[in-house]
Amino acid sequence: MERTLLIIKPDAVRANHVGDILKIVTDNGFAIKATRMMRLTTDQAGRFYAVHKERPFYHDLVKFMTSGKIVPVALECENAVAKLREILGATDSTKAAPGTIRNLFGTGLEQNASHGSDSVENGKIETAFFFGEFEF
Ligand code: RTP
Ligand code: MG
Repeated sequence: MERTLLIIKPDAVRANHVGDILKIVTDNGFAIKATRMMRLTTDQAGRFYAVHKERPFYHDLVKFMTSGKIVPVALECENAVAKLREILGATDSTKAAPGTIRNLFGTGLEQNASHGSDSVENGKIETAFFFGEFEF
């Protein structure tokens, strides 16, 4: 079964949308395999988004991702990576299709409510970043 990582970002946790987002995810056939609520350190957020290190928005992204608690969620289903990206919608919340998580709960390009892994390989790497195999 394919694995992917959802992160409910600080904006959505602050706005109390954790339950709503988890409901959408399970209604779409995903199984929640592991989760917790936590606050990332700057070092952890920097490592998680290391692929974006050279991007102009990297510093702000790390600041945003450490601005409050997040809820990382390991999900499994068939075609999990592509399916989660589909129900998240476009990165920019203002351009996300109606009914997607970012359309419903995001407010902008950065403050877009949730993260989803972008490849099958990263789905494995990112779930392992937050959860040990014994938690599955
Ligand atoms: P994510 O990794 O969070 O699932 O988002 P994504 O694949 O759709 O977008 P990505 O290019 O990986 O960007 C990671 C996150 O950085 C913030 N961002 N800010 N200010 C900007 O120009 C900008 N661009 C991206 C967003 O929070 C985005 O989700
Ligand atoms: Mg990404």
